Amino acid sequence: MPLVEIRDLWVSYGKAQILEGVSMEVEAEELVAVIGPNGAGKTTLLRAISRVAEPRGSVFFEGQRIDHLSPVEVVKRGIIHCPERRRLFPDLSVEDNLKMGAYLRGKDREGILRDMEMMFSLFPILKERRTQDAGTLSGGEQQMLAIARSLMSQPKFLMLDEPSLGLAILVRKLIADTIKGIKEDGVTILLVEQDADLAFDLADRVYVLEHGKVALQGLPKDLMNDPYIKEIYLGIV
Ligand SMILES: Nc1ncnc2c1ncn2[C@@H]1O[C@H](COP(=O)(O)OP(=O)(O)O)[C@@H](O)[C@H]1O
Ligand SMILES: [Mg+2]
Repeated sequence: MPLVEIRDLWVSYGKAQILEGVSMEVEAEELVAVIGPNGAGKTTLLRAISRVAEPRGSVFFEGQRIDHLSPVEVVKRGIIHCPERRRLFPDLSVEDNLKMGAYLRGKDREGILRDMEMMFSLFPILKERRTQDAGTLSGGEQQMLAIARSLMSQPKFLMLDEPSLGLAILVRKLIADTIKGIKEDGVTILLVEQDADLAFDLADRVYVLEHGKVALQGLPKDLMNDPYIKEIYLGIV
């Protein structure tokens, strides 16, 4: 049984049909990437899974339907959505942003403090900036904080929306290495990326989403040699 199974998912905003029958699966401990052009519906897909958007169709997590749950109930199952463009609390400190990530863990003070220290060893720069407002961090630091905040909730299934967006090459590499580490720790990941090279480097399997539909899917090594993928997606970022 896959950890996540999406069956025939449709999402519309008013009259605009955005997702048109998307089906995909993510196995436990797999890293699945979704690539596709701007406006294809990648963010909408993640929003539908985390129930910020209203889908038709079904989403199963650990064999149970979750498409009717509230966003908070989805989070309680261990499904965490790290949104596009970070969405931090800009007027809160680094430390307080991390605490917000752990708010559903309630009174587990010791565990939360221990995990916060783990985040600081993963991203030493965040430790240096721990009392600074999140809004004053650089783009790369904000992305590190967004990922660290997601990890503070101890996700089983982590959805990352364009974590490399707008970052310099070196920072992008650091983020990619971090994502590899999170996967090695046993977290199942759905990674949305416009940077197909990065997606192919990290993913076990890749889905290509175009105009709200799955256009292609496969192993990175196979898709990488597909003439269409080569022409449209690779070596252009
Ligand atoms: N809240 C919204 N209301 C109306 N249209 C939206 C909304 N969010 C996204 N869209 C539209 O849905 C389409 C898909 O958007 P999105 O899922 O953000 O694509 P991607 O993440 O692949 O770039 C776009 O045409 C976008 O303009
Ligand atoms: Mg998007």
